[in-house]
Amino acid sequence: MSSLRKIIIDTDPGQDDAAAIMLAFGSPSEIEILGITAVAGNVPLSYTSRNARIICELCGRTDTRVFAGADKPIKRKLVTAEHVHGKTGLDGPVLPEPTMALQQGHAVDFIVDTIRREEEGSVTLCTLGPLTNIALAFEKAPDIVSRIRELVMMGGGFFEGGNITPAAEFNIYVDPEAADIVFRSGVPIVMMPLDVTHQLLTRKDRVGRMAEIGTPPAKAMVEMLEFFERFDVEKYGSDGGPLHDPTVIAYLLKPELFSGRECNVEIETKSELTEGMTVVDWWHVTDRKRNAKVMRFVDADGFFDLLIERFARI
Ligand code: RIB
Ligand code: CA
Repeated sequence: MSSLRKIIIDTDPGQDDAAAIMLAFGSPSEIEILGITAVAGNVPLSYTSRNARIICELCGRTDTRVFAGADKPIKRKLVTAEHVHGKTGLDGPVLPEPTMALQQGHAVDFIVDTIRREEEGSVTLCTLGPLTNIALAFEKAPDIVSRIRELVMMGGGFFEGGNITPAAEFNIYVDPEAADIVFRSGVPIVMMPLDVTHQLLTRKDRVGRMAEIGTPPAKAMVEMLEFFERFDVEKYGSDGGPLHDPTVIAYLLKPELFSGRECNVEIETKSELTEGMTVVDWWHVTDRKRNAKVMRFVDADGFFDLLIERFARI
Protein backbone atom coordinates (compact mmCIF):
# COMPACT_ATOMS: atom_id res chain seq x y z
CA MET A 1 0.00 0.00 0.00
CA SER A 2 1.54 3.31 -1.05
CA SER A 3 1.67 5.98 1.68
CA LEU A 4 -0.94 8.78 1.74
CA ARG A 5 -0.12 11.35 -0.92
CA LYS A 6 -1.11 14.96 -0.12
CA ILE A 7 -2.14 16.77 -3.28
CA ILE A 8 -3.49 20.04 -4.62
CA ILE A 9 -5.47 19.63 -7.86
CA ASP A 10 -5.29 22.66 -10.18
CA THR A 11 -7.97 22.27 -12.79
CA ASP A 12 -10.20 23.71 -15.54
CA PRO A 13 -13.16 21.28 -15.50
CA GLY A 14 -13.79 19.91 -18.19
CA GLN A 15 -15.33 16.45 -18.29
CA ASP A 16 -11.92 14.77 -18.29
CA ASP A 17 -10.87 16.90 -15.31
CA ALA A 18 -14.02 15.60 -13.59
CA ALA A 19 -12.89 12.03 -14.22
CA ALA A 20 -9.49 12.83 -12.67
CA ILE A 21 -11.05 14.40 -9.58
CA MET A 22 -13.47 11.47 -9.25
CA LEU A 23 -10.53 9.04 -9.47
CA ALA A 24 -8.85 10.91 -6.60
CA PHE A 25 -12.06 10.86 -4.53
CA GLY A 26 -12.27 7.11 -5.15
CA SER A 27 -8.83 6.61 -3.60
CA PRO A 28 -9.06 8.09 -0.08
CA SER A 29 -6.54 5.68 1.48
CA GLU A 30 -3.86 6.76 -1.00
CA ILE A 31 -4.74 10.39 -1.74
CA GLU A 32 -5.58 13.34 0.51
CA ILE A 33 -6.84 16.33 -1.45
CA LEU A 34 -5.69 19.44 0.44
CA GLY A 35 -7.66 21.63 -1.94
CA ILE A 36 -8.84 22.15 -5.49
CA THR A 37 -7.83 25.33 -7.32
CA ALA A 38 -9.76 26.39 -10.40
CA VAL A 39 -8.16 28.14 -13.37
CA ALA A 40 -9.58 29.56 -16.61
CA GLY A 41 -9.05 27.16 -19.50
CA ASN A 42 -11.60 24.90 -21.12
CA VAL A 43 -14.21 27.47 -20.11
CA PRO A 44 -14.02 30.78 -18.20
CA LEU A 45 -13.19 30.79 -14.48
CA SER A 46 -16.82 31.40 -13.50
CA TYR A 47 -17.61 27.97 -14.95
CA THR A 48 -14.44 26.11 -13.90
CA SER A 49 -14.85 27.24 -10.28
CA ARG A 50 -18.55 26.23 -10.47
CA ASN A 51 -17.77 22.89 -12.10
CA ALA A 52 -15.16 21.94 -9.51
CA ARG A 53 -17.82 22.34 -6.80
CA ILE A 54 -20.41 20.40 -8.83
CA ILE A 55 -17.96 17.48 -9.03
CA CYS A 56 -17.30 17.63 -5.27
CA GLU A 57 -21.05 17.57 -4.56
CA LEU A 58 -21.64 14.77 -7.09
CA CYS A 59 -19.05 12.69 -5.20
CA GLY A 60 -20.43 13.62 -1.78
CA ARG A 61 -17.26 15.54 -0.90
CA THR A 62 -18.53 18.99 0.10
CA ASP A 63 -15.75 18.95 2.74
CA THR A 64 -13.29 19.72 -0.07
CA ARG A 65 -11.95 23.28 -0.21
CA VAL A 66 -12.33 24.85 -3.66
CA PHE A 67 -10.60 28.12 -4.57
CA ALA A 68 -10.92 30.34 -7.63
CA GLY A 69 -7.67 31.34 -9.29
CA ALA A 70 -6.58 33.12 -12.45
CA ASP A 71 -9.33 34.21 -14.84
CA LYS A 72 -6.92 34.67 -17.73
CA PRO A 73 -3.40 33.72 -18.84
CA ILE A 74 -0.39 35.71 -17.61
CA LYS A 75 0.05 37.69 -20.82
CA ARG A 76 -2.37 36.48 -23.46
CA LYS A 77 -6.08 36.63 -24.13
CA LEU A 78 -7.94 33.56 -22.83
CA VAL A 79 -8.64 30.86 -25.42
CA THR A 80 -11.36 28.39 -24.38
CA ALA A 81 -12.60 25.02 -25.68
CA GLU A 82 -16.39 25.06 -25.60
CA HIS A 83 -16.29 23.22 -28.95
CA VAL A 84 -15.09 20.17 -27.01
CA HIS A 85 -16.58 20.61 -23.54
CA GLY A 86 -19.79 22.51 -24.26
CA LYS A 87 -20.85 25.95 -23.01
CA THR A 88 -20.60 25.09 -19.31
CA GLY A 89 -17.54 22.88 -19.63
CA LEU A 90 -19.43 20.05 -17.96
CA ASP A 91 -22.13 19.45 -20.59
CA GLY A 92 -23.67 16.00 -20.73
CA PRO A 93 -25.54 15.23 -17.50
CA VAL A 94 -28.13 17.56 -15.95
CA LEU A 95 -26.56 18.41 -12.58
CA PRO A 96 -27.77 20.88 -9.92
CA GLU A 97 -25.99 24.19 -9.39
CA PRO A 98 -23.50 23.85 -6.51
CA THR A 99 -24.60 24.86 -3.01
CA MET A 100 -21.13 24.58 -1.41
CA ALA A 101 -19.33 27.92 -1.34
CA LEU A 102 -16.03 28.83 -2.88
CA GLN A 103 -13.35 29.37 -0.26
CA GLN A 104 -12.38 32.95 0.52
CA GLY A 105 -9.03 33.99 -0.91
CA HIS A 106 -7.23 33.47 -4.18
CA ALA A 107 -6.08 30.04 -5.34
CA VAL A 108 -2.51 31.28 -5.74
CA ASP A 109 -2.37 32.31 -2.08
CA PHE A 110 -3.82 28.94 -1.06
CA ILE A 111 -1.11 27.15 -3.06
CA VAL A 112 1.67 29.28 -1.54
CA ASP A 113 0.36 29.10 2.04
CA THR A 114 -0.28 25.34 1.88
CA ILE A 115 3.16 24.48 0.53
CA ARG A 116 4.82 26.72 3.15
CA ARG A 117 2.72 25.14 5.94
CA GLU A 118 2.89 21.46 5.02
CA GLU A 119 6.03 19.43 5.70
CA GLU A 120 8.75 20.06 3.12
CA GLY A 121 8.56 17.59 0.24
CA SER A 122 5.10 16.35 1.22
CA VAL A 123 2.82 18.14 -1.28
CA THR A 124 2.27 17.06 -4.89
CA LEU A 125 0.80 19.53 -7.37
CA CYS A 126 -1.52 17.83 -9.88
CA THR A 127 -2.26 20.16 -12.78
CA LEU A 128 -5.02 19.41 -15.26
CA GLY A 129 -5.28 22.75 -17.08
CA PRO A 130 -3.22 25.77 -18.10
CA LEU A 131 -0.36 26.44 -15.68
CA THR A 132 -1.31 30.04 -14.88
CA ASN A 133 -2.00 29.56 -11.14
CA ILE A 134 1.20 27.56 -10.66
CA ALA A 135 3.38 30.10 -12.48
CA LEU A 136 1.85 32.98 -10.51
CA ALA A 137 2.51 31.09 -7.27
CA PHE A 138 6.15 30.45 -8.23
CA GLU A 139 6.63 34.10 -9.21
CA LYS A 140 5.01 35.31 -5.96
CA ALA A 141 6.87 32.85 -3.71
CA PRO A 142 9.95 31.31 -5.33
CA ASP A 143 10.76 29.67 -1.97
CA ILE A 144 7.95 27.12 -2.43
CA VAL A 145 9.49 25.47 -5.51
CA SER A 146 12.06 23.46 -3.54
CA ARG A 147 9.39 22.42 -1.00
CA ILE A 148 7.21 20.63 -3.59
CA ARG A 149 7.44 16.84 -3.79
CA GLU A 150 6.65 16.83 -7.54
CA LEU A 151 4.37 18.42 -10.10
CA VAL A 152 2.44 15.88 -12.17
CA MET A 153 0.83 17.59 -15.15
CA MET A 154 -1.29 16.80 -18.14
CA GLY A 155 -0.04 18.85 -21.05
CA GLY A 156 2.12 19.07 -24.11
CA GLY A 157 2.89 16.61 -26.85
CA PHE A 158 5.84 15.60 -28.98
CA PHE A 159 5.59 12.86 -31.62
CA GLU A 160 1.80 13.21 -31.32
CA GLY A 161 1.82 16.93 -32.24
CA GLY A 162 -0.89 19.28 -31.01
CA ASN A 163 -4.66 19.34 -30.55
CA ILE A 164 -5.40 23.07 -30.65
CA THR A 165 -2.78 23.91 -33.30
CA PRO A 166 -0.67 21.43 -35.28
CA ALA A 167 2.17 22.15 -32.83
CA ALA A 168 0.54 22.81 -29.46
CA GLU A 169 -1.57 20.98 -26.88
CA PHE A 170 -4.37 23.06 -25.32
CA ASN A 171 -3.15 23.43 -21.70
CA ILE A 172 0.23 24.74 -22.81
CA TYR A 173 -1.15 26.76 -25.73
CA VAL A 174 -3.51 28.75 -23.49
CA ASP A 175 -0.63 30.06 -21.37
CA PRO A 176 2.82 29.33 -22.84
CA GLU A 177 4.47 31.95 -20.62
CA ALA A 178 3.16 30.17 -17.54
CA ALA A 179 4.36 26.82 -18.82
CA ASP A 180 7.79 28.34 -19.54
CA ILE A 181 8.05 29.61 -15.94
CA VAL A 182 7.09 26.19 -14.56
CA PHE A 183 9.41 24.16 -16.81
CA ARG A 184 12.34 26.50 -16.00
CA SER A 185 11.60 26.54 -12.25
CA GLY A 186 13.45 23.35 -11.29
CA VAL A 187 10.34 21.77 -9.76
CA PRO A 188 10.40 17.96 -10.35
CA ILE A 189 7.94 17.46 -13.24
CA VAL A 190 6.15 14.36 -14.49
CA MET A 191 4.57 15.16 -17.87
CA MET A 192 1.57 13.34 -19.33
CA PRO A 193 1.48 14.48 -22.99
CA LEU A 194 -0.94 13.70 -25.80
CA ASP A 195 1.46 10.88 -26.73
CA VAL A 196 0.07 9.05 -23.69
CA THR A 197 -3.49 10.36 -23.53
CA HIS A 198 -4.26 9.60 -27.18
CA GLN A 199 -3.78 5.91 -26.31
CA LEU A 200 -6.63 6.15 -23.76
CA LEU A 201 -9.84 6.23 -25.77
CA THR A 202 -13.23 6.06 -24.06
CA ARG A 203 -14.21 3.02 -26.12
CA LYS A 204 -17.80 1.79 -25.87
CA ASP A 205 -16.83 -1.33 -23.90
CA ARG A 206 -14.98 0.78 -21.35
CA VAL A 207 -17.80 3.30 -20.92
CA GLY A 208 -20.22 0.35 -20.80
CA ARG A 209 -18.34 -1.09 -17.80
CA MET A 210 -18.53 2.34 -16.14
CA ALA A 211 -22.31 2.42 -16.74
CA GLU A 212 -22.68 -1.02 -15.09
CA ILE A 213 -21.50 0.52 -11.79
CA GLY A 214 -24.99 2.02 -11.64
CA THR A 215 -24.36 4.73 -9.01
CA PRO A 216 -25.32 8.39 -9.58
CA PRO A 217 -21.67 9.54 -9.83
CA ALA A 218 -20.86 6.79 -12.35
CA LYS A 219 -24.01 7.55 -14.36
CA ALA A 220 -23.16 11.25 -14.47
CA MET A 221 -19.59 10.43 -15.48
CA VAL A 222 -20.82 8.24 -18.35
CA GLU A 223 -23.02 11.09 -19.58
CA MET A 224 -20.08 13.51 -19.31
CA LEU A 225 -17.80 11.22 -21.31
CA GLU A 226 -20.45 10.50 -23.94
CA PHE A 227 -20.71 14.26 -24.48
CA PHE A 228 -16.94 14.84 -24.31
CA GLU A 229 -16.03 12.10 -26.80
CA ARG A 230 -18.44 13.23 -29.54
CA PHE A 231 -15.89 15.84 -30.76
CA ASP A 232 -13.20 13.25 -31.51
CA VAL A 233 -15.64 10.60 -32.76
CA GLU A 234 -17.27 13.06 -35.22
CA LYS A 235 -13.98 14.63 -36.33
CA TYR A 236 -11.72 11.59 -36.51
CA GLY A 237 -14.11 8.64 -36.51
CA SER A 238 -12.20 7.33 -33.50
CA ASP A 239 -13.64 4.75 -31.10
CA GLY A 240 -14.12 7.25 -28.28
CA GLY A 241 -12.28 10.35 -27.09
CA PRO A 242 -8.84 10.56 -25.42
CA LEU A 243 -9.19 10.65 -21.63
CA HIS A 244 -6.44 13.12 -20.77
CA ASP A 245 -6.55 14.32 -17.16
CA PRO A 246 -7.07 11.12 -15.12
CA THR A 247 -3.55 10.06 -16.21
CA VAL A 248 -2.20 12.50 -13.60
CA ILE A 249 -4.01 10.83 -10.70
CA ALA A 250 -3.51 7.33 -12.11
CA TYR A 251 0.24 8.00 -12.03
CA LEU A 252 0.06 8.64 -8.28
CA LEU A 253 -1.88 5.42 -7.72
CA LYS A 254 -0.15 3.07 -10.18
CA PRO A 255 2.98 4.64 -11.68
CA GLU A 256 3.84 1.27 -13.19
CA LEU A 257 1.06 1.81 -15.75
CA PHE A 258 3.28 4.41 -17.44
CA SER A 259 6.78 4.53 -18.89
CA GLY A 260 8.94 7.30 -20.29
CA ARG A 261 12.20 9.02 -19.58
CA GLU A 262 13.90 12.15 -18.24
CA CYS A 263 14.12 14.70 -21.05
CA ASN A 264 14.72 18.36 -21.62
CA VAL A 265 11.43 20.15 -22.34
CA GLU A 266 11.29 23.76 -23.46
CA ILE A 267 8.26 25.85 -24.37
CA GLU A 268 7.93 27.90 -27.54
CA THR A 269 6.64 31.35 -26.59
CA LYS A 270 7.80 33.46 -29.55
CA SER A 271 6.93 31.89 -32.91
CA GLU A 272 3.34 32.51 -34.03
CA LEU A 273 3.38 29.24 -35.98
CA THR A 274 4.45 27.02 -33.06
CA GLU A 275 3.63 29.01 -29.91
CA GLY A 276 2.76 26.69 -27.02
CA MET A 277 4.73 23.80 -28.46
CA THR A 278 6.55 21.59 -25.95
CA VAL A 279 9.93 20.94 -27.54
CA VAL A 280 10.88 17.55 -26.06
CA ASP A 281 14.45 16.31 -26.49
CA TRP A 282 13.36 12.63 -26.40
CA TRP A 283 16.51 11.42 -28.21
CA HIS A 284 18.81 13.49 -25.94
CA VAL A 285 20.42 15.22 -28.92
CA THR A 286 21.28 18.25 -26.77
CA ASP A 287 22.96 18.58 -23.39
CA ARG A 288 20.13 20.78 -22.09
CA LYS A 289 18.99 20.07 -18.53
CA ARG A 290 16.62 17.10 -18.34
CA ASN A 291 13.87 18.98 -16.46
CA ALA A 292 10.94 16.59 -16.82
CA LYS A 293 10.09 12.92 -16.71
CA VAL A 294 8.15 12.64 -19.98
CA MET A 295 5.76 9.72 -20.30
CA ARG A 296 5.23 8.08 -23.69
CA PHE A 297 3.72 4.65 -23.09
CA VAL A 298 0.75 3.48 -21.00
CA ASP A 299 -1.07 0.23 -20.21
CA ALA A 300 -4.47 1.40 -21.46
CA ASP A 301 -6.45 -1.59 -20.19
CA GLY A 302 -4.79 -1.31 -16.79
CA PHE A 303 -5.63 2.41 -16.71
CA PHE A 304 -9.34 1.84 -17.37
CA ASP A 305 -9.46 -1.11 -14.94
CA LEU A 306 -8.14 1.26 -12.24
CA LEU A 307 -10.57 4.05 -13.19
CA ILE A 308 -13.62 1.75 -13.15
CA GLU A 309 -12.59 0.02 -9.93
CA ARG A 310 -12.16 3.38 -8.13
CA PHE A 311 -15.29 5.01 -9.61
CA ALA A 312 -17.26 2.10 -8.17
CA ARG A 313 -16.09 3.04 -4.67
CA ILE A 314 -17.81 6.44 -4.71
O1 RIB B 1 -5.45 19.01 -24.26
C1 RIB B 1 -6.21 18.35 -23.28
C2 RIB B 1 -6.27 19.17 -22.03
O2 RIB B 1 -6.89 20.42 -22.28
C3 RIB B 1 -7.13 18.51 -20.93
O3 RIB B 1 -6.65 18.90 -19.68
C4 RIB B 1 -8.47 19.10 -21.17
O4 RIB B 1 -9.29 19.10 -20.00
C5 RIB B 1 -8.10 20.51 -21.54
O5 RIB B 1 -7.87 21.22 -20.34
CA1 CA C 1 -8.21 19.98 -18.10
